[in-house]
Amino acid sequence: MNKEKTVVIGVCGGIAVYKALDVISRLKKKNVNVHVIMTKSATEFVSPLSFQSLSQNMVITDMFAEPKAWEIQHVSLAKKADLMAIIPATANIVGKVANGIADDMLSTTIMATKAPVVFAPAMNTNMYTNSIVQENISKLKGLGYEFIAPESGRLACGDVGDGKLADTESIAEFILSKLNSKKDLNGKKVLVTAGPTISKIDPVRYITNGSSGKMGYAVAEEARDRGAEVTLISGPTNLKPPTGIEFISIQSNSEMYDEVLKRFGNSDIIVKSAAVADYKIKSYSEEKIKKGSGDLILEFTRDNDILKSLGKMKKNQILVGFAAESHNLIENAKGKIKNKNLDYIVANDITDNDAGFAKDTNKVTIIKKDETLIPLEVMDKKKVAGSLFDIVIKDLK
Ligand code: CTP
Repeated sequence: MNKEKTVVIGVCGGIAVYKALDVISRLKKKNVNVHVIMTKSATEFVSPLSFQSLSQNMVITDMFAEPKAWEIQHVSLAKKADLMAIIPATANIVGKVANGIADDMLSTTIMATKAPVVFAPAMNTNMYTNSIVQENISKLKGLGYEFIAPESGRLACGDVGDGKLADTESIAEFILSKLNSKKDLNGKKVLVTAGPTISKIDPVRYITNGSSGKMGYAVAEEARDRGAEVTLISGPTNLKPPTGIEFISIQSNSEMYDEVLKRFGNSDIIVKSAAVADYKIKSYSEEKIKKGSGDLILEFTRDNDILKSLGKMKKNQILVGFAAESHNLIENAKGKIKNKNLDYIVANDITDNDAGFAKDTNKVTIIKKDETLIPLEVMDKKKVAGSLFDIVIKDLK
């Protein structure tokens, strides 16, 4: 992050208060200036001193504690903030803000700020699903406030359900992504596919490939960070769906095909990083295949080439394909640009040690429709995604 950014964290009373400390620690590591406002009940759970030590700033706990200073403080922090994040956000603060109530330091600062405000709710599951709380959340979302949805799990009260604070890594990542100043994909709709597809053989067996999904998830996150409205359609992976995007989970080639086609007409940029299977099992066995004494021969039949179909339908969309090759990288990739009517292809040699399926880094050459080659150094997959969008956006201009 270039210029130092300021985030005001509002901490409300709930058992998840201590988790806000971890978010702050993660932000500080990225050189973010953090100020903390705690509600009175938050201070019952964790001492302000912990927040002060981590944020390295005075913690504001109660507007009435410093009658001379609060007016200045709530306005000055509201102005200073590049972003406000409420962690954990209780039903109380959500209700107050949704209904225009400003009766303490935190609610007045939220009301006074022009910075984006993000809520990370955590509460008992019955409270969270209560229609009053849900209505307040919908109202705030409609007004442009953002929410990092809680997870489902075992809550401190023993109940199981929605209401567990989203994990702190995702919260910090979401905040950092919002602070990213390059918003050059604002207003664009970006559709990304990732991961493998699977073809079922029988009720217990299937055939798939080794795609980890890392490249596609990095593309989706980069597009989101640059302001795009992102949909990620993903085959089964071990990755967490990134926050702040529409996430669609699919299994087979035809499910991916249907979901992609539904959104294609409405998308500006489509990045197809998924490793889509070209073949599916010819006849799925409804019953589990029993072993016999001889060999088992499975027959496959061709499945949809999703990208090729998109190439045929393409109007103003920008179409980006990936080519994972083990030989004749550039020639094969160029062939795919023509064959699938693409604007760009990201070609990588899967035999290279720094590139390929489960790696965190990639070494690619981006090839344009006019066959210009842009070879990139080895870099992590998020940076590869960044370079890809830099090139696409430059060409758009
Ligand atoms: N792709 C697709 N549908 C398929 C196969 C591939 O949409 N059935 C897309 C991939 O998402 C990728 C690009 O096409 O963006 C190239 O994929 P790749 O597997 O490298 O190429 P194929 O066209 O399958 O060619 P081959 O397997 O012969 O190399």
